[in-house]
Formats: sequence, structure tokens, C-alpha cells
Amino acid sequence: MATPNNGKKTACVVGGSGFVASLLIKLLLEKGYAVNTTVRDSDNQKKISHLIALQSLGDLKIFEADLTDEGGFDTAVAGCDLVFQLATPVNFASQDPENDMIKPAIQGTLNVLKACAKAKTVKRVVLTSSAAAVSINQLNGTGLVMDEKNWTDVEFLASAKPPTWGYPLSKTLAEKTAWKFAEENNIDLVTVVPSLMTGPSLTPDIPSSIGLAMSLITGNEFLINAMKGMQMLSGSISITHVEDVCRAHIFVAEKESASGRYICCAVNTSVPELAKFLNKRYPQYNVPTDFEDFPSKAKLIVSSEKLINEGFNFKYGIEDIYDQSVEYFKAKGVLNN
Ligand SMILES: NC(=O)c1ccc[n+]([C@@H]2O[C@H](COP(=O)([O-])OP(=O)(O)OC[C@H]3O[C@@H](n4cnc5c(N)ncnc54)[C@H](OP(=O)(O)O)[C@@H]3O)[C@@H](O)[C@H]2O)c1
Repeated sequence: MATPNNGKKTACVVGGSGFVASLLIKLLLEKGYAVNTTVRDSDNQKKISHLIALQSLGDLKIFEADLTDEGGFDTAVAGCDLVFQLATPVNFASQDPENDMIKPAIQGTLNVLKACAKAKTVKRVVLTSSAAAVSINQLNGTGLVMDEKNWTDVEFLASAKPPTWGYPLSKTLAEKTAWKFAEENNIDLVTVVPSLMTGPSLTPDIPSSIGLAMSLITGNEFLINAMKGMQMLSGSISITHVEDVCRAHIFVAEKESASGRYICCAVNTSVPELAKFLNKRYPQYNVPTDFEDFPSKAKLIVSSEKLINEGFNFKYGIEDIYDQSVEYFKAKGVLNN
């Protein structure tokens, strides 16, 4: 393995300003990696202030690259041992998902992989996919178990166009494209397939996924409806602490025997079940528990058995996930008590 930077291994994290990527960078620096990261606009101090702060932890270099720039990742990836590709356009309100999400997600992933092929130093690429690339289908019933063999039904999404269809389609097609390119170009690719994440964030703004996961506590009706929509479309409300997802990225990057896809999901539940738990644990927030005829049980679970069998341990269960998210919202002034 290439060992530049005084014997330190170098990892490139694509999309470093994001919720998950910035924590991943922190963990990598704490483990002694030198890190190259890419952001879209390195002059946007507000968007990258948390990355500037992380430079005090170790060797972190910030590069500029857009997913749509052919060749844009070559400099940041050159000489790296590991590459983590997390960048993806997320725009649930888009009127044009094809151009806003689907095309840039696919093209961007290809651009990153092409940079890896060119660099010739990259030993493994870890791509962040999503449970949204696994479980969206028209299966009926309950008690279903989704694992790495399952893929979201792209024909269904593209033809039925259910609300928010563009994002799961972009994630599914980007991951499928990555697998094809990696196979054709002999790249060691592993994908992490996480569920909805929450937990404290380093980013200056509160990430939208935490707002969604916390909606039953904040009482945001629009986001509670989005959670219901998520359960109906994906089959469950599946949640993981962001730190566990970052730990899983490093785990599969370092574990030689790791290969293929790895679902990373700590908790599978439903909106009514989650609400019941939150109402009991945080009585001060008056979490609603009456959902009338909305399905009380999830249709399926997304299983992390493969990741656990590989030797990974989840650090956080549902109590810690929400205790830490509540504390984070208090620190941000979103919750008062
Ligand atoms: N959060 C979750 O609950 C969740 C669940 C499952 C999977 N995931 C996956 O995890 C990864 C990270 O998600 P996240 O929650 O951390 O998202 P995020 O905070 O929105 O970060 C996304 C990153 O992608 C970058 N990006 C977007 N469009 C780009 C473009 N055209 N060129 C270059 N960079 C671009 C953004 O850069 P800017 O700062 O410039 O906008 C940002 O750094 C994504 O692949 C997401 O699909 C997330």
C-alpha cells in the first residue's frame, strides 16, 4: 500500500462538507490518516468552517470539485490509498429530479471512480449508497427481511413517480453504475448502505435528515408526514447513529475480507412504534401517539447481518441515538427543555 505523508495512509473523502462526510473526516484524522477532501466551493467559509476547524486534528487538505466536472477529482484522489465517495445532490423539492439529482449522482460517481482508476494508488473505494437503493418495491405483507441481494425497483420508481422518487432512483442508479464500472475497471469497490441517520452534526446548519428523524419530537407536521411517506414507500422507518455509519465506512475500508454491499442499520421500526417510544422517553415533548389507521407495523426490516458477521459492532441503540439527538437540538436552540 502506498505510504506517502511520513508513513500515514491517505484517504480522500468526496463531499467533505456534508453531515456524514465531515464526521467521517474527523474519525479518519483521529485514527492518524492524512485526509484529502473535496467541496464544491472552498471560498464559502460558512459551508466549510467545520472543516477548517478539523484541520487542527491532523493533516486535512481541502480541494474544490463538482460532481459534474469530468476530471475534477483527479488531483484530490492522486496518491490516495482509500477513497470514500459520499457526495450526492439531495433536493426532495426538485421539479426536475432527472437533472438535479439522477444525472449528477451517476456522472459524479463515475468521475470519482475514473479518478481512482487513473491514480493507480487507490486500494479500495467505499461508496455511500442508501437503504433507499434496497427496499423500495411493491411487495406486500409484513415480516419481510431485506438484505444486500435486494435492490429497489427502478422501473416502479421511474413509472409511478411516487413523492420523492428522484432521490431513491438517483441512489440506486448511482450504485448500480458504480458496480458496473468497478467490475469493468478492476476497482476494489465496497458500498455502505445506510438507513436514515441522526445524531449530533459538525455542520454549521442542521442536516435535513436529523430534522426528519426528530420531527415527532419537534412536532413539525410536514416532516411527520414525510416520515409517514417514508414508511409507506420504503416499508419501514430504519434509523442509525451517524457515528456508527462512519465507523462502518472505516471498518469496511480497512477490513481486507470485506466485499460487496453492506447494509448499515441499527433500528427498524415504524412511525407509530417510534412515536410510542419517544412519548414515553421524553414526556415533556408531547409526542403524538394516535395515528388512526396508519399501519402500526413496518412491512420489513433492512438487515445488517452481513456487516455484523464481518465483525462490526453497533455502538448506539435507539435510546442513545435519540438522547444524543435531543441534546444536539437543545444545544442548537431548537428544543428548550
Ligand atoms: N443522511 C442520511 O440519513 C442518509 C441516509 C442514507 C444514505 N445517505 C447518503 O450518505 C451520503 C451523505 O449524506 P449526508 O446526509 O451527509 O448529505 P449532505 O449533508 O447533504 O451532504 C451531501 C454532500 O454532497 C455534496 N454535493 C451535492 N451536490 C454536489 C455536486 N454537484 N458536486 C459536488 N458535491 C456535491 C454536498 O456539497 P455542498 O456542501 O456543496 O452542498 C455535500 O457535501 C449521501 O451519499 C447520502 O445519499 C444519507
